[in-house]
Amino acid sequence: MCGIVGYAGARPALGIVLDGLRRLEYRGYDSAGVAIVCGDELLTEKKAGKLANLEKILAERDAADCDALGIGDGTTGIGHTRWATHGGPTDRNAHPHVARDGRVAVIHNGIIENFARLRAELEADGVQFTSDTDTECAAHLISIALGQLRAAGHADSPQLLAEAMRQVCQRLEGAFTLLAVDAGVPGAVVGARRNSPLVVGRGQGENYLASDVSAFIEHTRDAVELGQDQIVLITGDSIEITDFDGNPAAGKDFHIDWDASAAEKGGYDWFMLKEIEEQPQAIADTLLGRLTETGEIALDEVRLSDQDLRDVDKIFIVACGTAYHSGMVAKYAIEHWTRIPCEVELASEFRYRDPVLDRSTLVVVISQSGETMDTLMALRHAKEQKARVLAICNTNGSTIPRESDAVLYTHGGPEIAVASTKAFLTQLVACYLIGLHLAQVRGIKFADEVAAVVDQLQEVPDKLRELLGRIEPVRELARDLKTAPTVLFIGRHVGYPVALEGALKLKELAYMHAEGFAAGELKHGPIALIDQGTPVVCVVPSPAGRGMLHDKVVSNIQEVRARGARTIVIAEEGDEAVLPYADHVIYVPRTPTLLAPLLTTVPLQVLAAEIAAARGHDVDQPRNLAKSVTVE
Ligand code: F6R
Repeated sequence: MCGIVGYAGARPALGIVLDGLRRLEYRGYDSAGVAIVCGDELLTEKKAGKLANLEKILAERDAADCDALGIGDGTTGIGHTRWATHGGPTDRNAHPHVARDGRVAVIHNGIIENFARLRAELEADGVQFTSDTDTECAAHLISIALGQLRAAGHADSPQLLAEAMRQVCQRLEGAFTLLAVDAGVPGAVVGARRNSPLVVGRGQGENYLASDVSAFIEHTRDAVELGQDQIVLITGDSIEITDFDGNPAAGKDFHIDWDASAAEKGGYDWFMLKEIEEQPQAIADTLLGRLTETGEIALDEVRLSDQDLRDVDKIFIVACGTAYHSGMVAKYAIEHWTRIPCEVELASEFRYRDPVLDRSTLVVVISQSGETMDTLMALRHAKEQKARVLAICNTNGSTIPRESDAVLYTHGGPEIAVASTKAFLTQLVACYLIGLHLAQVRGIKFADEVAAVVDQLQEVPDKLRELLGRIEPVRELARDLKTAPTVLFIGRHVGYPVALEGALKLKELAYMHAEGFAAGELKHGPIALIDQGTPVVCVVPSPAGRGMLHDKVVSNIQEVRARGARTIVIAEEGDEAVLPYADHVIYVPRTPTLLAPLLTTVPLQVLAAEIAAARGHDVDQPRNLAKSVTVE
């Protein structure tokens, strides 16, 4: 939540910072702002609403040419796009926040938990606040610390700014990424991170700081991962990292294996539509090279022995939102293949109910961003209880994989739309691979059996391409459903999480009432919701799998139809048994039952995106949401 960019180099900073913010806007879009150091002056501009509002006033400012040295001339700068926590989404609460001396500007992601105490202390010393944010405390504190250092005889230097940041961080509680610039120290940006994302981009004669690499990918693909509680100071030609006590620390260099075009819309109206189309490739990339020459599944980083995995007697899958739904699907596959009991938990609930965890528990955490605070806190709780943690993640250099004992990266590429699509499908693939790996290590599945399932997975991208090639009727249906007061989704077995995911997508994008149910649960209450014409999306399992399962869902369709529902049936091609009860049928290619969510989810993604567009909503940036949820 909140996107942060910093630049120090020789080129005009403003354009670089704004381009970075554009790529980070998915992280929050309540307001945006920049602070640029020009000569020995600090120039700031900020505005509530999307980045476009800020760009408009910057253009007006440019036209008025009101600055002796224009904001476009400075070569050091920071920028912020906000998802509001402390203080409403107004101009005055937009970042950067400037200290009362007008020379220090700060941007922030996260929550400073002791801000009330700090604010009271500062106000008692006569500081007048101009916003309702916790961030403003940090701006005043850094400016005061700099003043004290100068008064003690220290000359202005980038290191002085870093020292002031260090002193302030030692006083802050909570989770934060902070970036600061000072007009007295042109050419330097200092950053600090605790439990909140910040990566460094290493350029030629210029360096970058950002919430994620997409902000600087068009300038450099060389990045540095920072650890917890670290301070990083960038100038055009140096990157210095220390801990909060000033001891030198090392970052971890990594190379980004995708380029700027992956983070562009590429002719699509919405990133989400592009990302839906990218799913076949994302699945293929996630599968690439997973089977070793000896027929074993390869994870990416493994700090667990095979013996540790053989000792596992219980699995918890922990995640939020869409990632949680992928975990629900995984439960069916993992229990079926490994015979190890597997529970799926919402990360935000996990640690509060005191789950029974020990050395022989494997906790699988799933997160696209790798920064979701609820999931991170669940991970830490699991580690405190000595459980082993395996992460499924799409973001290199993020916190969740770094703190886990083993990692399987999904190679989905950047997911910019707030609503998760390709991350979900690649998380499913990763879950299947983990289930197979566990089954193999424990001697339950032989290499040829594992290879057979991997072969089936490898057929999915082509099947998905075929499905996407004939998705037009779903778009037409969407336009027809745009005024429905409610849409219900039902499914059984792995179709149940697919139903939940379909409902979540519709809620978050179209702002419509939508609910997903286990089809067998309808008769225990929710069937009362069915009225004449209520659209019910029914996810039907393959008739070739477990015949009984298929027949039961067909009966459930008949039950809702008999009560007036308009049924939209997702079924396997050739399944004619559904036809008498389907008002609309969307056929998906044949695939084994456990893998079916890789196909059946996709029409539901398209349905939600198209209904949202038909209702006039911003498909990529739905209201009240942000992509990376770094608060609990
Ligand atoms: C919904 C969606 C969210 C995320 C959830 C977890 O479309 O994207 O529900 O799945 O916030 O995010 P990650 O996977 O980054 O931990």
